[in-house]
Amino acid sequence: MLKVENLHVSVEGKPILKGLTLAVNSGEFHVIMGPNGSGKSTLALTIAGHPKYSVEGGRILFDDEDITALGPHERARRGIMLAFQHPPEVEGVRIIEFLQQVLVETKGVDPVEAYDMIIKKAEELWFKEEDLHRHLNVGFSGGERKRLEILQALLIEPKLLILDEPDSGVDVDSLSVISRKIEELHQRGTAVLLITHYGRILGHLDREKLRAHVMKDGRIVKTGSGELVDRIENEGFGRIFEEVEG
Ligand SMILES: Nc1ncnc2c1ncn2[C@@H]1O[C@H](COP(=O)(O)OP(=O)(O)OP(=O)(O)O)[C@@H](O)[C@H]1O
Ligand SMILES: [Mg+2]
Repeated sequence: MLKVENLHVSVEGKPILKGLTLAVNSGEFHVIMGPNGSGKSTLALTIAGHPKYSVEGGRILFDDEDITALGPHERARRGIMLAFQHPPEVEGVRIIEFLQQVLVETKGVDPVEAYDMIIKKAEELWFKEEDLHRHLNVGFSGGERKRLEILQALLIEPKLLILDEPDSGVDVDSLSVISRKIEELHQRGTAVLLITHYGRILGHLDREKLRAHVMKDGRIVKTGSGELVDRIENEGFGRIFEEVEG
């Protein structure tokens, strides 16, 4: 479904991704790990079509279509959603109105029905109706923003959900609800590309069924099963980097 081929990306003239190749088939669950600054968020934002990231070489295919030159909205319409590492404040956009519009446009639901769907899902993520009348992410705490991103994903049900550190800065109880909701979406058919530093977000997912990738300096240097996540958590990146570099 998603194919990233020999991708080279620079930000403000500085090369960040240096020949990255990755394939995600529908329904799969992939995990990306890597040291700070290795280019994980750059990859996520580039797949989502952020204009700041310029593709200098290679291409991105989604459902066999070359989407490398498409804008972020066109990619979203095709079923790609990115949950940000740092969800930005969007002044002037009320959460409820934004989500209603998304549901009306993508699922053809009528606005009143959409309203009820949103309130119901929001409760599962501990948001009250009044919270949804606030502006998107404005004044929300870091952990609340992460939960809001998951709420959006649950309603949108994208074909491919890219999650950039959905576990960073969230308390233990929020982490377990976020983890369960990601698994729920995955079970309903969403392919997941999850960036994390820790295995805990993976909850009870079967490690054997996961694909884990390790990034270093703009490339994927190792791929394996979910066991790799636990190994990195226990022993760090050093040994793995030594192994791949020989
Ligand atoms: N606007 C920019 N100008 C210069 N360098 C940038 C810019 N944006 C990103 N970078 C650099 O690109 C590199 C990769 O950043 P990126 O955010 O993709 O890393 P990451 O793997 O997501 O790290 P983390 O684990 O800390 O989230 C970093 O060295 C970062 O400083
Ligand atoms: Mg990052």
